[in-house]
Amino acid sequence: MINWKQKYANKIMSAEDALKQVRSGDRVVTGHACGEPPTLVRALVDRAPELKDVEVVHMVAMGPAKYAQMGMEGSFRHNSLFVGAATRKAVSEGRALHTPCFFSEIPRLFTWRILPVDVTLMQVAPPDEEGFCSLGVSVDYTLAASRSDRVTIAQMNKYMPRTLGGKIHLDEIDCIVEKDEPLIELKPPAIGNIEKAIGEHVAALIEDGSTLQLGIGAIPDAVLLFLKHKKDLGIHSEMFSDGILTLAEAGVVTNKKKNINTGKFVATFLMGTKKLYDFVDSNPDVWMQPVDYTNDPNIIGQHDNMVSINSALQVDFMGQVNAEMIGPNQFSGVGGQLDFVRGASRSKGGKSIIALPSTAAKGTVSRITPELDRGSAVTTSRNDVHYIVTEYGSADLRGKSIRERAKALIGIAHPDFRESLTAKAKEMGLI
Ligand code: COA
Repeated sequence: MINWKQKYANKIMSAEDALKQVRSGDRVVTGHACGEPPTLVRALVDRAPELKDVEVVHMVAMGPAKYAQMGMEGSFRHNSLFVGAATRKAVSEGRALHTPCFFSEIPRLFTWRILPVDVTLMQVAPPDEEGFCSLGVSVDYTLAASRSDRVTIAQMNKYMPRTLGGKIHLDEIDCIVEKDEPLIELKPPAIGNIEKAIGEHVAALIEDGSTLQLGIGAIPDAVLLFLKHKKDLGIHSEMFSDGILTLAEAGVVTNKKKNINTGKFVATFLMGTKKLYDFVDSNPDVWMQPVDYTNDPNIIGQHDNMVSINSALQVDFMGQVNAEMIGPNQFSGVGGQLDFVRGASRSKGGKSIIALPSTAAKGTVSRITPELDRGSAVTTSRNDVHYIVTEYGSADLRGKSIRERAKALIGIAHPDFRESLTAKAKEMGLI
C-alpha cells in the first residue's frame, strides 16, 4: 500500500489551520445530514470573530448549526437548501435564508456556478490502496461542490463507513484533518397507531418485485412493518435507514427484480444508527451515488413498478400537495419528493404515494383541506399527484377530475371533518 501519510504529509493539518483557508465573503458548502464533518464545522464557527459575510450552504443540518444561532449574523449567513430542526428558527426569524431547489439539481447549482462555491467541508473514510476516500454516508452533492471550489477540506474519520460508489481521490483534497469521532446517528422513530394504519394501506399498494423509495420518519418505517410477506423488493431511494435492515435480513428485499443496478441497494445518503453504518461498510450490495443520478426522474423511471413513498403537511381538494410549509413559514423543503414522484410516474406500473395523517396539531386541523393555507407553497402539483393515503384509506387521483378528487379526498379525511369539508366542497361547486 502507498504510504499516503508520507505522500500527503503537507496536506495533513489541524482543523484550526485548515479553516484558515476560509475568507470573509466566501460561500462554504458543508456535507449533508449524518455526513456533516462536525470537527470542521466547529472550527469554522470558532473563527466567527474574524469572519464577515460567510455564507454556509447545505441541506439538512444534523449538528447544532451554531453558525445560524442568534448573534452570528455578521459572521455567517446560513442558506438552507432544506430547512431542518436546527435551522428552522433562524429561517423563520429572517436570520437565515431558504433557497428552494430539487435535491437532484443541487449538484448543478454548484457545477454550473449558479451558486459558486469557495470552500467545501466534507467527511471521508480513510483512503484505499489507490488513494481514494469513500464519501461514506453522504455522497449527494459533496463531490460536485468540491470539484467547483477553491479549497476542499476533508475530515478523515475511521468511523465513516467505506461505502462503494461515491469517492474522492486524495489528490483532489487540499487539506486533510484527521479526526476520528462516531458519526451523528438518527434513532428509529416511535410508530403509533395512526402511522401503523397508514403503513398498512400503503403496503396494500405495493406489489411483489416493486422497487421502493422511502423517506425518513415514522410513516416510512410503519410501511416497512407491513412488507414482511412481500417478495423480491428493491431499493432505489435517495436515502434509507435502519428500518430496511430487518427486511433485508429476512430476504424480502433482494433487489433481484430491479431493471438497472440489479442486486444493489441504491441511495445517495444514509441516516441511521451504527447498525446501519456497519451494514453498509464495504458492502458490495450497497451502491452510493451522487444525487443527480439517484434522483434523476429518468433513472428512477427505468425501474418497472417503482413506488415512491413520501409525506406531506396538507393536501387540497385539487390534489395539490404542500410538504414543506406551515402557513408562510418554511418547515422543510421539497427535497427529493418531486424527483421521485416524477420518476415513479415514468415507471411502467409505477406509483407515487403521498402518505400523511388525516389531522395535525393534536387533531385540531384537517390536513385534507379545501385550499392550501395562505402563504404555503405547492410541493407536488395537481398534475403530478397520484395516490394520497391517510389512516382512513387511499385515494387514487391520477386521471380524476377536480370533482372526483375532492370527493375521494373527503372520503379519506378524518370523520370529524368530513361534514364541514363536504359543505365547503358544495359551496365551491365541487359536489
Ligand atoms: N397546520 C398546522 N400544523 C401542522 C400542519 C398544518 N397543516 N401540518 C403539520 N403540522 C404540525 C404537526 O402537528 C407537527 O407538530 P407537533 O409535532 O407539534 O404535532 C409538525 O407540524 C410537523 O408535522 P409532521 O407531519 O409530524 O411532520 P414530519 O416530521 O412527519 O414531516 C414532512 C413531514 C412533510 C414535513 C416531511 O416528510 C418533509 O419534509 N417532506 C418533504 C420532503 C420529502 O418528501 N423528501 C423526500 C424524502 S426524504
